[in-house]
Amino acid sequence: MPKRNRDTIVIAVPKGRVLEQLGARLERAGIPTDALTAKSRKLVREDKASGLSYLLLKPDDVPTYVEYGAADLGIVGRDVLMERDYDVLAPVDLDIGRCRMMVCGLPKASLSGKRERPLRVATKFPHIAERHFRSKGTPVELIFCQGSVELAPLTGLADVIVDLVETGETLKQNGLVPLENIADISSVVIANRAGLKLRREAIKPILDALRK
Ligand code: PRP
Repeated sequence: MPKRNRDTIVIAVPKGRVLEQLGARLERAGIPTDALTAKSRKLVREDKASGLSYLLLKPDDVPTYVEYGAADLGIVGRDVLMERDYDVLAPVDLDIGRCRMMVCGLPKASLSGKRERPLRVATKFPHIAERHFRSKGTPVELIFCQGSVELAPLTGLADVIVDLVETGETLKQNGLVPLENIADISSVVIANRAGLKLRREAIKPILDALRK
């Protein structure tokens, strides 16, 4: 494990839209979040009184920090854990960041019937998409996109997309519709395996408070 203050519990959290819900969720569990929610560009936020230190990360990087032990705990969407394998424990579902992983496309798009070529699928989640269509026996050509994936069917880049849908507003405003549900997504707490054993006394009360 990387060298760091052994008395501090380090929690990796995702920057972005789940952070606000997360602050409220941690507060409800009695976990101090002033350092986390303060307006600042600092990426390490320490709460000296409670011995908690938050790392603000891109969501996809959270499991990496936890797997390597640079953080004891992390908060991450199930989509990130579905897309890649990480050697971490996922002990608590936080019931925040609720959304769906879906296949979406133009209203005229069809997922059934014979096709002359593989279905072209644009996505930030190629493994999830590949698994989904393989399980249905649908040949696909995957096109990796970093974001604004909704543009792909509109421009003819792809037939459909596999993406997260929360309110459905992005689909609606771009004339797309949901076609198939792949998975219900929410945020979970993940833990470093060795850290959970070595620092159990400090980490367990945090997990217990979040479980309530
Ligand atoms: C996510 C997702 C959708 C949108 C869905 O994108 O990829 O585009 O949110 O949310 P909605 O159903 O509430 O409209 P994000 O805003 O994270 O940006 P991105 O397109 O750059 O990934």
